Amino acid sequence: MIFRQLFESVSSTYTYILADSDSREAVIIDPVKEQVPQYLRLVEELNIKLIKGIDTHTHADHITGLGELRDETGLISIIGEKTGAECISQRVADGEMVDFGQHQLKALYTPGHTDDSFSFYINDPELQAVFTGDTLLIRGTGRTDFQQGDAYAQYDSLFNKLLKLPDETRVYPGHDYKGWMMSCIAEERDHNPRLQVDGPEAYADIMHNLNLPNPKMMDVAIPANLACGQA
Ligand SMILES: [Fe+2]
Repeated sequence: MIFRQLFESVSSTYTYILADSDSREAVIIDPVKEQVPQYLRLVEELNIKLIKGIDTHTHADHITGLGELRDETGLISIIGEKTGAECISQRVADGEMVDFGQHQLKALYTPGHTDDSFSFYINDPELQAVFTGDTLLIRGTGRTDFQQGDAYAQYDSLFNKLLKLPDETRVYPGHDYKGWMMSCIAEERDHNPRLQVDGPEAYADIMHNLNLPNPKMMDVAIPANLACGQA
C-alpha cells in the first residue's frame, strides 16, 4: 500500500492519501482547497488514480478540496450521512466500507465535535490505523462548542468506539498544532489528558470550560464546505 501524510500549515490540517499498490486506486482524506494542485502533482508522480475523497466532517477552519478534486479527477466525494452538504456524491453510514483496490476503510460514526463526524478505520496487514478527523487528536480532542457539537456524544464516540479499537492501532488525526504526526490507541488512552476522566460528566465539564475563540475562517468555511468548497 502507498501511504502519505500531508500537512497544510495555515489551518494545521493533515491530509492523507492511501493507494493500492497493484490497481493504483487511491483515496484522499480531508483535502484542503488551496493544496489541490499539490495533491494532483503527487498523484501524478506516484502514478496513482484518485477514485474517492472523504471529508471526516464539515470543517470550520479550512475549505474542503473535495469539490475541486471531483471536477479535476472525477473522484467520488464521500462524507458521513448526517452532512448538510447537498453536493456530495456519496453519504456513508456507520459500519459502511469504502473500498480502494484490495483495501478498505470502515466508516465509524463518531459524533461530538460535530454531528456529522466520522472516523475511518483500516485493519489491513499493511496498515492498521484510524483516521479520526477532529474527534480524537493527539493528546487532545476536537472542540464541541459549535456545529451541533455535543460533549456527551463525543465521550461516547471516544470511550465506546475509538478506544475499543486494538491498542496498537495508529491514530492519524485531522490536525496537530505542535507537529505531532501520529499516535496509537493505547498511547492516547494512557496519556491524553482529556481521556483521564471517570465518566461523561467529568468529560463534559472539561469541554464546557475550554472558552475557545471561534476559528478565524469559520464564517467563510462552513457555508463554503456545505457547497463542497465551491460556493
Ligand atoms: Fe473540525
